[in-house]
Amino acid sequence: MLRRLVTIGAAAFLIAGAAMAETPAYEWPLPTWMPPPPVPADNPMSAAKVDLGRHLFHDARLSRDGTVACVSCHVQARAFSDGRTVAVGIHGTTGAKNAPGLANVGYLPVLTWANPHMRSLEFQALIPIFGENPDEMGSTGQEATILATLAADPYYAAAFPRAFPDHPAPDLFTITRALAAFQRSLISVTSPYDAFKRQGDKTALSEAARRGEQLFFDHRFECYHCHSGVHFTDTLQTARMPEAEVGFHNTGLYRDYPAAVPGLIELTGRPQDAGRFRTPSLRNVAVTAPYMHDGSIPDLRAVIAHYAAGGRAPDHPQKDGMIQGFVATEAEIADLIAFLESLTDQNFLTDPRLSDPWPESHPARARRMMPPAGG
Ligand code: HEC
Ligand code: HEC
Repeated sequence: MLRRLVTIGAAAFLIAGAAMAETPAYEWPLPTWMPPPPVPADNPMSAAKVDLGRHLFHDARLSRDGTVACVSCHVQARAFSDGRTVAVGIHGTTGAKNAPGLANVGYLPVLTWANPHMRSLEFQALIPIFGENPDEMGSTGQEATILATLAADPYYAAAFPRAFPDHPAPDLFTITRALAAFQRSLISVTSPYDAFKRQGDKTALSEAARRGEQLFFDHRFECYHCHSGVHFTDTLQTARMPEAEVGFHNTGLYRDYPAAVPGLIELTGRPQDAGRFRTPSLRNVAVTAPYMHDGSIPDLRAVIAHYAAGGRAPDHPQKDGMIQGFVATEAEIADLIAFLESLTDQNFLTDPRLSDPWPESHPARARRMMPPAGG
């Protein structure tokens, strides 16, 4: 049995090796202190695949009527969130949840706000394209038309064979794999706080942000208990971790969480999971307002007020024990905000490798809906 596995493993390695020889290898834009995210064995990274995924991510022709692309709700300048309270999909359909940012999404072992079973970027990509609750891109039943449109595009005619030499057609297998590879390349590790903390640049943080750092890691505030580790979330997996960490918590947002978005309980059925949501990363948090799974908190000051009060609904029976409330001065609140702002990675928000690759009048973006600018 073991021998058989070793043989299969070696064969897989050879196949991967052959594919690598044909397309340039992908180089992670990572410093030594940050290991790469895990990559599934059946979807190795390559520069060609990431570039293909970048084009698909920005291509509204993946939607039923050519008006909605992934970027319609995941905008680079907002760390791939959209500034709306809840997402707005095809024909203006609103969902019940806030679109999260996608910085370092490859390091998340579970995806979306409260679904413990959503464990693959490849699979997740199908939800916005085909999901009907909410209707985001509305493409169910349109598969053949959409694939034919992509196949006729000169960029894709060359890019799919380049990215998938053994499986060159645009289909759901290749589209979801390319989208996942691009999303694994959404890496944000060059904030001022990273420079200060990891590269030893003592000038990278203001005095206020340094005081805010102390407060963030202080027992009075308890933020670091859940927003822990390199990505400020207790939900993490890297290529070097044998086991993923996953954290879902109730922060006391509601006494009765609305039936449309009840938290982890929706899928587990366990009463103790009422109002529990996955801890979001705080990297780039200053540009991803509004906050929480339903976008119900408008800014960072109001988020801190929520925690200071021990939650908006402090008596929820499932509220996490770490959220007890605290007293903070105005100066301390300003310092904590300065610290959170030091997690904004301007390189990531403007990195041309992650930007829209399509010319303005191209059919991929000509009719594409985008969230209101500003913020
Ligand atoms: C209409 C807006 C909208 C569109 C279009 C959209 N998304 Fe999202 N996205 C959301 C919302 C809302 C969530 C949170 C869903 C939830 O928690 O159930 C989300 C969650 C995600 C997540 C999980 C992130 C995390 O932190 O767990 C990924 C990955 C993602 N989207 C990728 C994509 C890709 C790829 C596309 C294009 C194929 C896309 N999205 C299109 C609104 C959108
Ligand atoms: C018990 C774990 C826990 C503690 C302690 C905690 N958080 Fe959170 N945090 C969460 C969870 C879970 C969410 C998402 C809740 C939701 O959407 O319903 C969240 C959401 C947030 C958000 C919104 C992020 C977004 O993208 O929407 C910010 C900002 C935030 N927390 C900052 C803080 C700060 C600052 C502290 C300390 C004062 C803190 N948190 C303490 C678990 C925690």
